[in-house]
Amino acid sequence: MSTLEDLPRDAEAAFAAVDNLPALDQAKARFLGKTGLITEQMKGLGKMDAEGRKAAGARINQIKDQVEASLKARREAIEAETLRRQLAAEALDVTLPGRGETMGGLHPVTRTLARIERMFASMGFEVADGPEIETDFYNFTALNIPDNHPARAMHDTFYLPGGHLLRTHTSPVQVHYMQRQQPPIKIIAPGRVYRCDSDVTHTPMFHQVEGLWVDETVSFADLKGVLADFMRHFFERDHMPVRFRPSFFPFTEPSAEMDIGCVICGGDGCRVCSHTGWLEVLGCGMVHPNVFGHVGYDAEKWQGFAFGLGVERLAMLRYGVDDLRLFFENDVRFLKQFA
Ligand code: FA5
Ligand code: MG
Repeated sequence: MSTLEDLPRDAEAAFAAVDNLPALDQAKARFLGKTGLITEQMKGLGKMDAEGRKAAGARINQIKDQVEASLKARREAIEAETLRRQLAAEALDVTLPGRGETMGGLHPVTRTLARIERMFASMGFEVADGPEIETDFYNFTALNIPDNHPARAMHDTFYLPGGHLLRTHTSPVQVHYMQRQQPPIKIIAPGRVYRCDSDVTHTPMFHQVEGLWVDETVSFADLKGVLADFMRHFFERDHMPVRFRPSFFPFTEPSAEMDIGCVICGGDGCRVCSHTGWLEVLGCGMVHPNVFGHVGYDAEKWQGFAFGLGVERLAMLRYGVDDLRLFFENDVRFLKQFA
């Protein structure tokens, strides 16, 4: 009976040695399970006479009750401790000071876009929109860009499966809009464009704002007036030197590129303007009759101008940033300055 008498103490020690419920269940099996120590004792009763069996049986039951009681106590203690630990881990100290949120700000390109839109809106231009995934027709053919034009080469254009491509300029919006609307029209179309190109002044994705004004008498003089006026307001200068250089775009005739006097050096010549005193900011021209032909406009009756300006270019000049890629690296130290 000495081992039997040891059982309550042994069991209590075994239960105390574990600190979680699965381990406690294993310890329980060692004493109370089908092959456990107490069950073993019960099996021994068979070999005893009736008198002995009765006394021993009663004692074993008492011991069993003690073991079960200490098991129950230990289980409750473990459950209480588990709960206490969980509550401590989940505790929220509402008296701690807050972490503090820093104020976000609009991206400089977004701010520039909003500024450009606001200024053209004040001159009566509406904002139009078009897809960034285009077909060859809208990006090239309808804009009078012949099959062998260099802009079509893989070098510049990101081609997608299924005959689609990422638009290389915002000019296809002109075509979408004119297909839907009859003249007169006066719109700008801001948006992302993509070119297979990357260095200090070129990024594979950048923004353009397209402009298109079509009416019966819109002339090159209107083009010059609108764009010179816009630049003066955009850069907040009363005397903003501008010049129009003859250029070539298949979808305009005549075509020009517009330069502004370098806002960094004031025209004296610096690194940003390659020591010329001038900066190219956009391409423009009078809409080519073939483009009107593609959208079913009567080129004898309607005429107009179009332009496409580089938004990052204007943002760089306005904010004095000398590397285009800074706009897309999203370094918070850089972006914070515009908040
Ligand atoms: C065009 O994209 C013509 N669609 C513009 C146009 C519209 C002409 C309507 C006539 C009528 P160009 O490829 O030159 O033209 O781009 C226009 C402007 O986008 C450039 O002056 C420049 O400011 C900007 N730009 C061009 N490529 C990049 C580039 N990789 N990264 C950033 N800006 C660019
Ligand atoms: Mg150009």
